[in-house]
Amino acid sequence: MTSGRLVLLATLAAGLLGLAAAQSAEPTRMPGPAPVPRTAHAVEENARCEGCHADIAAEWRSSLHKKAHDDPAYRRALAIEPLPFCRGCHAPEADPMQDPPPELGALGVACTSCHGDASHVLAAPRKIERSAPHPVVRAADFASASACAHCHEFSFPDPERRFTPLFMQSTVSEHRASPFAGASCAECHMPLVGEGASKHRSHVFSASRDPALLRASVRITATRRGAGTVAIHLEPLAVGHAFPTGDLFRRLAVHAEAVGPDQNVLAEDVRYLSRRFGRGKGRDGHSIKVLTGDDRVMPGAPSVITLSLGEKAEGAPILWQVAYERVEHPIEESSDQAVVEGEVVLAKGTLAPP
Ligand code: HEC
Ligand code: HEC
Ligand code: HEC
Ligand code: HEC
Ligand code: HEC
Repeated sequence: MTSGRLVLLATLAAGLLGLAAAQSAEPTRMPGPAPVPRTAHAVEENARCEGCHADIAAEWRSSLHKKAHDDPAYRRALAIEPLPFCRGCHAPEADPMQDPPPELGALGVACTSCHGDASHVLAAPRKIERSAPHPVVRAADFASASACAHCHEFSFPDPERRFTPLFMQSTVSEHRASPFAGASCAECHMPLVGEGASKHRSHVFSASRDPALLRASVRITATRRGAGTVAIHLEPLAVGHAFPTGDLFRRLAVHAEAVGPDQNVLAEDVRYLSRRFGRGKGRDGHSIKVLTGDDRVMPGAPSVITLSLGEKAEGAPILWQVAYERVEHPIEESSDQAVVEGEVVLAKGTLAPP
């Protein structure tokens, strides 16, 4: 056999293998940041999905997925760190290397970002098949956390942590470690809505913008121990990950104050529950960004926060409150100082003096 034929055979074999890999890998490739295989005409394609799936389209248009690129909180953060990395997830239909054209940015995380285009619509398995005017590729992974994992878990784009990645968002591993690991993200975040033939999984994906859901996520009670000590009990309910999860700039503010006869504050104490970052030593002794603490409420693990107001609280009522706060970027590393952008009060009350 001549070397020429060997090369030819090798090329053929590689070609066949490549083809086989592409065929088996493509149908089950899960959604993720750009670049992913997608249609060149996302705006038109997405408008067609919306045209036929009107209920779902209306839900999606109200969602943070749709607003992922135009959302003011994202725009403010992007202005500080304008990285292709950010655009890949927040405007996945556009080329992340440049500022997206407005119509592609406005698609945010689109139907096509999660389902692909109409030549190849990705869907969860279903017992009774319904006929669709486009091919439907059913994949078990799409009914699992894998459908969300490529966007909802990722590391800092920090060159210092290239070889030892540090999570910026870790919702998927929090979920995997939780008592809810057996429930998919969709089971909680895409509840069944509608009646009869129009019954479908909701695409509203409301979470941190839904005060009622936030309040229902954790049971909070407070007890006074002696004159100046308050114990706040936080019992997570049906939350499938840390509370709060996701973006860095969220935290729970646990606060108590003793008030005097003319509503003056006699003493106060506050604790912020969040992930904290600081500097630590890497393997080669260099200073690197590290996680220095994480006291968020974890699923299945009630926590008790003790606040101390001291002797000044004696004889005075104590007002306590737990709020979900959204804080502005950048939060100073390892400090609680932050500008609060928004808050939802989860629970509050007054404890009479003993
Ligand atoms: C011409 C109308 C039409 C267009 C365009 C269209 N669909 Fe569909 N699609 C249907 C119909 C009808 C069905 C079957 C009934 C159903 O499931 O709603 C279906 C089924 C589906 C399913 C499977 C639902 C299931 O689990 O059974 C998904 C997912 C889906 N479409 C998504 C999309 C996406 C994403 C687009 C755009 C890329 C799109 N469709 C474009 C009409 C359309
Ligand atoms: C963030 C990702 C994401 C986006 C964006 C998204 N979908 Fe879905 N969609 C899903 C997932 C995941 C499922 C399946 C959930 C399951 O059954 O476990 C689904 C289910 C569906 C279904 C079947 C619903 C049912 O219960 O019968 C249709 C139809 C559909 N999507 C259409 C659309 C259309 C149209 C858009 C845009 C208007 C869209 N989706 C946007 C992820 C997404
Ligand atoms: C292509 C990337 C991508 C995929 C895939 C994706 N998401 Fe998202 N998701 C985002 C981005 C980006 C945001 C933030 C949008 C914003 O507010 O700027 C978001 C926001 C959300 C929110 C709202 C969070 C809040 O603060 O209230 C929920 C809930 C959510 N996603 C759930 C899911 C679930 C469940 C899946 C899988 C079925 C999924 N996402 C798949 C990118 C994605
Ligand atoms: C057992 C139900 C449940 C499961 C499973 C679940 N979640 Fe959640 N999720 C919630 C609840 C309740 C909230 C609102 C409380 C909160 O903000 O943490 C929430 C909030 C969120 C938020 C908003 C961020 C925040 O904390 O404010 C994101 C993003 C999110 N979930 C993504 C996911 C993803 C991705 C998965 C799968 C890996 C998932 N969730 C699995 C119940 C669930
Ligand atoms: C791998 C995907 C991914 C990358 C990369 C990414 N994000 Fe996000 N981002 C998300 C997801 C998913 C959420 C929703 C989680 C939540 O709301 O807690 C989110 C939420 C946010 C939010 C909160 C939005 C709100 O309305 O509260 C801001 C701000 C944000 N991202 C900014 C950025 C910036 C700036 C970058 C680049 C430095 C970036 N993101 C990179 C996926 C990504």
